[in-house]
Amino acid sequence: MPTLVIVGAQWGDEAKGKIVDVLGAEADFVVRYSGGNNAGHTVIVAGEEHKFHLLPAGILHPGVTAVLGGGMVVCPPSLLSELDRTGAGGRPIGQLVVSPAAHVVFPYHRLLDQLEEEARGANKIGTTSRGIGPAYTDKVQRHGIRMGEFVRPEIFERRLREVLAVKNRLLSMFGAAEIEFEALFQEYSRYAERLRPHVAEVAPMLQAAVAEGKHVMFEGAQGTFLDLDHGTYPYVTSSHPTAGGACLGTGIGPRDIGSVLGVCKAYTTRVGSGPFPTELTDEVGELIRDQGQEFGTTTGRARRCGWLDLVALRHSCRINSMSGLILTRLDILGGIGDLKVCLGYRRDGMELHSPPSLIEDWSGIEPVYTTVPGWDEDLRSVRGLQDLPQSARDYLELVESHTGVPIAILSIGPARDETAVLRPDLIWAR
Ligand code: IMP
Repeated sequence: MPTLVIVGAQWGDEAKGKIVDVLGAEADFVVRYSGGNNAGHTVIVAGEEHKFHLLPAGILHPGVTAVLGGGMVVCPPSLLSELDRTGAGGRPIGQLVVSPAAHVVFPYHRLLDQLEEEARGANKIGTTSRGIGPAYTDKVQRHGIRMGEFVRPEIFERRLREVLAVKNRLLSMFGAAEIEFEALFQEYSRYAERLRPHVAEVAPMLQAAVAEGKHVMFEGAQGTFLDLDHGTYPYVTSSHPTAGGACLGTGIGPRDIGSVLGVCKAYTTRVGSGPFPTELTDEVGELIRDQGQEFGTTTGRARRCGWLDLVALRHSCRINSMSGLILTRLDILGGIGDLKVCLGYRRDGMELHSPPSLIEDWSGIEPVYTTVPGWDEDLRSVRGLQDLPQSARDYLELVESHTGVPIAILSIGPARDETAVLRPDLIWAR
């Protein structure tokens, strides 16, 4: 069946947005399933840059239905301004549907995110300060306000009164000013008014689409190692970016997923705190950051950069049951000289074959590297394997042999056409 999950294979920022935009040309539905506006996807079309935080990047194709699944947390003013920006000047864009089950992010979530980070002191997670953790906490605590309630004024007023009373007590415990009900209710009711026409049940719509053989693409945000269960906890986000999250966050069953493509940079980056065995804190790391312009789309923070970690990637391939890999930013490694690739972890003289679950067990891990020749050629005009220098081809082969997963697509620049599809058969399973 032509259903496809695009998942971040590392710590996020793998250039999934561009891939979703390219593959979105063939999709009928593009569905975000987890996270919120902590995500940042940049897409360049005809020289114009589009930045997405909540909208699925596939919305740039007018025939696409863009869906925000129930697994998401949605900040209404952020969604509306993105919608206005994307459709500015009458640009034709896809239709937007938002699940009534998605949770709403309110200003008190953002405030609490910052206050909780400050309280963590030296152990801070380095969140995006978008209120994501506190919004998911409300969901798990079972007093979050969902989109379906938000767009019904009588329910929204009652729920906001009830929840705000609790949040104000929390805010005063932190020594912060309380939030006044009336102003918040009035402001957010205006957003609700505009979003109401977009709110509709998602699971039956997608189940029908799958039954009709429509092309449905699930757009992951963040990355596998930021997953609440499978990431480097507690240095993770509060949702499920892994492929399993696509089922939970939309109402599609596991047997309705045709293929899973993991997007992976040719090196590794991470934003925020947490373990990163192959991190480079020297001039090579700076060179990669400069050449790759590795600064966050959402917060502008400099990303931590390092060598490709095949221990982590192999684990990620298994967690997500990947059918193929999409290797991005191969062009950025050009001109760096010899490249290192991590093939193993060692701790206290012992070899580890997969990343540990406990944060305490990450300390003292040393990467075991192999060194391979790099390349100096500009790869941006590459459109197939035959155009690659031998050393780059060997690099791809190393990735495939170590992970056991074939590379389906190569991305060698930000534009739509700077893409080489190596295995079209792996993209939309029939
Ligand atoms: P939160 O999602 O804002 O709570 O942040 C938790 C962690 O996830 C922090 O380390 C963030 O830097 C990281 N994070 C959240 N969203 C993204 C993303 O889209 N790309 C990369 N890192 C992210």
